[in-house]
Amino acid sequence: MDKTLISVHHRPQWRTHIGFLLATIGSAVGLGNIWRFPYLCYQNGGGAFLIPYLIALLLIGIPLMILEIGLGHKVRGSAPASFASINKHWEWLGWWQVIFVMFGIVLYYSVIISWCLNYLVFSFNLSWGANPGDFFFKQFLHKSARPFPLGNIRTQVLFALGAVWFLNWIIVFRGVEKGLEKANKIFMPLLFLLTLIITIWSLFLPGAKQGILVYVRPDFFKLKDITVWIAAFSQIFFTLSLGFGIIIAYASYLPRKSAIVKDAIAVSFANSLFSIIAGFGVFAVLGYMSYTTGRPINQVVDKAIGLSFVVYPKAISMLPALSQVFGVIFFGILFIAGLSSSISIIEAFTSGIVDKFGYSRRSVVSYLCVAGFLGSLIFATEAGLVLLDIVDHFLTQYGLVIGAILECILLGWVYKPKMLRGHINSASHLHLPRWWDFLIKVVAPGVLIVLLSRALIQEFSSPYQNYPAVALILVGRDWLVYTLFAAFIVASRPWQRKLSI
Ligand code: PHE
Repeated sequence: MDKTLISVHHRPQWRTHIGFLLATIGSAVGLGNIWRFPYLCYQNGGGAFLIPYLIALLLIGIPLMILEIGLGHKVRGSAPASFASINKHWEWLGWWQVIFVMFGIVLYYSVIISWCLNYLVFSFNLSWGANPGDFFFKQFLHKSARPFPLGNIRTQVLFALGAVWFLNWIIVFRGVEKGLEKANKIFMPLLFLLTLIITIWSLFLPGAKQGILVYVRPDFFKLKDITVWIAAFSQIFFTLSLGFGIIIAYASYLPRKSAIVKDAIAVSFANSLFSIIAGFGVFAVLGYMSYTTGRPINQVVDKAIGLSFVVYPKAISMLPALSQVFGVIFFGILFIAGLSSSISIIEAFTSGIVDKFGYSRRSVVSYLCVAGFLGSLIFATEAGLVLLDIVDHFLTQYGLVIGAILECILLGWVYKPKMLRGHINSASHLHLPRWWDFLIKVVAPGVLIVLLSRALIQEFSSPYQNYPAVALILVGRDWLVYTLFAAFIVASRPWQRKLSI
């Protein structure tokens, strides 16, 4: 490891161990757990989906979580600093990860959080009325069918977006201990409590049992379909915030003596457990809807966005009692889960800049949040939903996966995993077995390469969602290309910090 590139400066630290755990779980548990996971389960064989999902968790989720925590802990640096310390020529990879998440994923992610905030307010008088689908797409978003022209910025979204970025700013501005740790210590218990309340509430609705049967009933036949496996592996990645540069940054604030392996396992299981529990709540509600409308579940279920903003509002209006309270809790859950994830990437990016250029973290956070707010405006327009869909597809299917493959190559082949394993084992009680090296060197990158090639074949055989090819290229692919350029430029700048250990 090239020691000359490791920066020394006063590094913030988590005040408590639980603070680190809650913040990392806060990053992992996000919108992806609440709307994406239950829907994926339903679509990919119900209970049987748990098999590839758990295999993905054990085979690459936990091993990579250990890798990222171990690396951040060893180098005590952000993703760019960590990769640079292994090999100077790989610094760009760390920048690319934090740049395309910060100036890509988080820009639209914060817009979805602001919809949740709008809907939280709408819940007070069930503003979506009798036709939540029309309300969401026509009245609220004024959604256009094509990516261009952008159309106007939606005022309600704009205000909520301002509030979201303000909160992002105030939390990250206050620093690791007083901002992130404190916020997550409030957010996480609240999130678990509210989720528990709403799930138990849902289980008592008439028809809930039928809904749950659809959720868990295994259709083992589906396991023959490779797309089911791809879905499981990509979900594990997104949901654990792996390949985002977040976990590395969070781990860099850990004290020397840390239970790296135990923490990685705890965070990964807590996150999946949350998804599985949320799934029970979601399907109980769908069961209730099918019971009251007399229509089968497959006609009431909807994918991703529609599930939260169309199906759920409809169900909320149909509840026998306390609809408003249910609505406020549900959108409150989405809001908290989303916010605790968005602050984590702002931190990951900030720590990269502070590590390299030595700027004051407060000014970095301030400029970053203003830029983030302005950047998100594009997704607050009438074309926002279409653009969001395209950018999400490219960044999560390709950006995250390519970044992670390269991360495995760097750690597995350029820098020997044996060395990192030695470090992890010297810091933590629970020892990492030798076969972990094999998972990092061969299994994880191998699986990811298969995933990536399947996705590419699919991409070339039919344009995603039948959007115009020009839009897919200019918005989707180019977003990746430009962020890559930006990463090379930042990586080529000289380090301003004293660079020795
Ligand atoms: N793990 C988050 C989720 O499941 C993903 C995420 C993390 C998105 C950080 C944005 C920023 O939703």
